[in-house]
Amino acid sequence: MKILVIGGGGREHALVWKIKQSPKVEKIYCIPGNGGIAEIADCIPLPLDDLESLAQFAFEKEIDLTVVGPEIPLSRGIVDVFMEKGLRIFGPTKAAAEIEGSKVFAKEIMNRYHIPTAASGSFEDEQDAVNFIEAMDTPIVVKADGLAAGKGVIIAQTKEEAKDAVHVMMAEKAFGDAGTCVLIEEFLEGEEVSILAFSDGKTVVPMVPSQDHKRIFEGDEGPNTGGMGAYSPVSIFMPDLQDEVMRQVLQPTVDGMAKEGMPYKGVLYAGLMLTATGIKVLEFNARFGDPETQVVLPRLQTDLIDIMEAVIDQRLDQMTIEWTSNHAAVVVVSSGGYPGKYVKGKVITFNQPQDEEVIVFHAGTKKDGQDIVTYGGRVLGVTGIGETLQDALHKAYKAIEHIKFEDMFYRRDIGHRELARKKD
Ligand code: AMP
Ligand code: GLY
Repeated sequence: MKILVIGGGGREHALVWKIKQSPKVEKIYCIPGNGGIAEIADCIPLPLDDLESLAQFAFEKEIDLTVVGPEIPLSRGIVDVFMEKGLRIFGPTKAAAEIEGSKVFAKEIMNRYHIPTAASGSFEDEQDAVNFIEAMDTPIVVKADGLAAGKGVIIAQTKEEAKDAVHVMMAEKAFGDAGTCVLIEEFLEGEEVSILAFSDGKTVVPMVPSQDHKRIFEGDEGPNTGGMGAYSPVSIFMPDLQDEVMRQVLQPTVDGMAKEGMPYKGVLYAGLMLTATGIKVLEFNARFGDPETQVVLPRLQTDLIDIMEAVIDQRLDQMTIEWTSNHAAVVVVSSGGYPGKYVKGKVITFNQPQDEEVIVFHAGTKKDGQDIVTYGGRVLGVTGIGETLQDALHKAYKAIEHIKFEDMFYRRDIGHRELARKKD
């Protein structure tokens, strides 16, 4: 089979790495790819916003299956464009991807199908939002409705801050059209877990749980990022919780989307808060998580292509999906200054010894002659695999000691919650 992967981050490197293990696959293309993906696939520099050109490329190269990594092409309808041309593609349609593309839409689905989530109101008028805030307890969570690269959520400690956040989104248009509508919701306390699931529109099968580290600094301080590290499994996510997520979140969401006439096919990612009063959904994403994929796919034993084909053909109920019992941890190495301003083009040197249980996934890198140089905020994701989380982390951190570029930064406390639990 010939496969095309869309995207160029750490998630896409993990996808290409896993897809390459399938005996069915003879050739992989990636648009645009990155410096690491270029070692194992043909990277093609086409713009992701030109969906017709992407489909034309897939048509000309006789691609058997296209796999979409990022949310923006999904929200723009890449799946619809490919399907119209008879091309096989893994991911939700434009309508179904609204579950990530519009937080208000996701909330409506959750409310309509009784899926546990934070109480909220949605507003297109600033004064109405202000009136709603006046009646709330603090802290207050203010969210831009549309896609904002993970930045459109503000946790306001006071009502004044919440009103300012609304003003910045609605009047000053800090997130452009994403802030035309805002969602204001109650603050939830607890621990976050990411559950990615395969869905074929009827059957939904969760993957192994993982936990992201969204803040830039150790101790979960500083601004939010795309994610600075992750690990899997998560010990607090016991089988009873898995059943609860299936029963209360995943199955009703997939059934609800089908009822709404937009069957959900692809990866449904539920960002969950484990609160004192049970599981609540913080957000849905319409795709694999980044960096969660870099710890989830290394634990997948089943052929990913078989699963994706079963999703497209709606026969996920006939698949058995198997996982290893080991642990995986990814430490993201970023450019100094990220998530603020940073400089690209720093030469990266890799001198880590070969180790089957270490995978260096590239994110913001590119080839520059003989060199690999930095080309984004999140530069690498180094995944370690081991019998325990400690082993996995040890392998990842040891490998990072042998990787160098100017102003590199990484958190040294990935997995801290889980490690603290283990000591109890
Ligand atoms: P979202 O994009 O909706 O997942 O929000 C990004 C991050 O903001 C989440 O991963 C949480 O850390 C935080 N967050 C979002 N909604 C809430 C909430 N209702 N209560 C507490 N934290 C939240
Ligand atoms: N790691 C968070 C996300 O992929 O949205």
